[in-house]
Amino acid sequence: MNNSESSVVSLLQETQEKFGYIPKEEIYRIAEEKGVSPAKVMGVATFYSQFRLSKPGKNLILLCKGTACHVNSASSIAAALKEELGIGDGETSEDGLFTIEFVACLGCCSLSPVMMINGVAYGSLTPEKAKEIVRNIRNEAAKGV
Ligand code: FES
Repeated sequence: MNNSESSVVSLLQETQEKFGYIPKEEIYRIAEEKGVSPAKVMGVATFYSQFRLSKPGKNLILLCKGTACHVNSASSIAAALKEELGIGDGETSEDGLFTIEFVACLGCCSLSPVMMINGVAYGSLTPEKAKEIVRNIRNEAAKGV
């Protein structure tokens, strides 16, 4: 990584911290600030998987696909969430309530399979339990809680 790329990366990191993702206008702002083309900034943003280019849903679901979770059927949890919310890795539900991201080990393998929603870990999941958790969150949101 050269100097200009690393300074673009740090501006992208700051932007993501501020907005939770990288809005398009910020790509142009960073390009202007660094004297590089917007295409170059976009290239850096898409190269690193840490950067999110679309606005995440209100609730970020991190579904672990690490080894322990994988052998304990994380894919059945992914399928259940897809069935319940209609979304898969990197996607946001139409109502803007949920975004799912598949991640590597969340550090609580003894509870596998695990997902984390807004920083709270839910372990020993079954497809039914995973659906129920997101249903509850959706119901709470509908009540305006
Ligand atoms: S592999 Fe899923 S929490 Fe470690």
